[in-house]
Amino acid sequence: MIHLKSKREIQEMKKAGELLAYIHSQIKEMIKPGVTTWEIDQLSHKIMKDHGAIAQQIGYNGYKYATCASINDEICHGFPRKKPLLEGDIVTIDMVVNLNGYLADSAWSYGVGLIDDKAQQLLDVTKKSLYLGIEQAQVNNRTGVIGHAIQSYVEPLGYSVVREFSGHGIGQDMHEDPMILHYGKANKGVRLQEGMVITIEPMINIGHWKSSLDDDGWTARTIDGSLSAQFEHTIAITAEGPLILTEQK
Ligand code: MF3
Ligand code: CO
Repeated sequence: MIHLKSKREIQEMKKAGELLAYIHSQIKEMIKPGVTTWEIDQLSHKIMKDHGAIAQQIGYNGYKYATCASINDEICHGFPRKKPLLEGDIVTIDMVVNLNGYLADSAWSYGVGLIDDKAQQLLDVTKKSLYLGIEQAQVNNRTGVIGHAIQSYVEPLGYSVVREFSGHGIGQDMHEDPMILHYGKANKGVRLQEGMVITIEPMINIGHWKSSLDDDGWTARTIDGSLSAQFEHTIAITAEGPLILTEQK
């Protein structure tokens, strides 16, 4: 079922989104070789607590951490860990903030120190694909238009779109309808309506789109070991167009 949100509810979600964006801005400041994703997780959780917010991912299907930290060929849902990040790594930090019962979800990929051109181009293309998807988050568009915009941008450049994970509605629950695919046909999916709030969160690989799951039951990684990146925003569908609730200043 799709829960349409009132303007007031969207404002509440925006407050959660602003806090999440602030956390990402702090992560950006601290990321460098030698820092651990464990420290990033601790900092993120502390900022949430200091602002009266809850780390919604803790306890979700038994997940234990405030953030997901996915390094290099890891696509998503990696665990924060005490192993130092290395120069040239790319790492995606994903989290869901719950402020007063309203949620926001945003993932961002970061380069660690100096990264090579191949990795930088992946980050640039993945971020651009998110914004091309967001442009299509308009009243009356089918959800398929979003995925089509992403896939038709990245594939001609030689990249692939992960299929096993998708965007989703979000509100007082982390995962609501509709599902937002990052690939596929433009004439598929439900039509977007004013008051819907969704995530768009393309995961883009340099190699094949397929993933495998680690023995930990969570960490998804590329089957061919190629790099993967992800950028995610929470977006409200409004009469005036897409409103990004997690935009960074
Ligand atoms: N933030 C993720 C999403 O985009 C959820 C991760 S699953 C969790 O949907 F278990 F880590 F919370
Ligand atoms: Co999400």
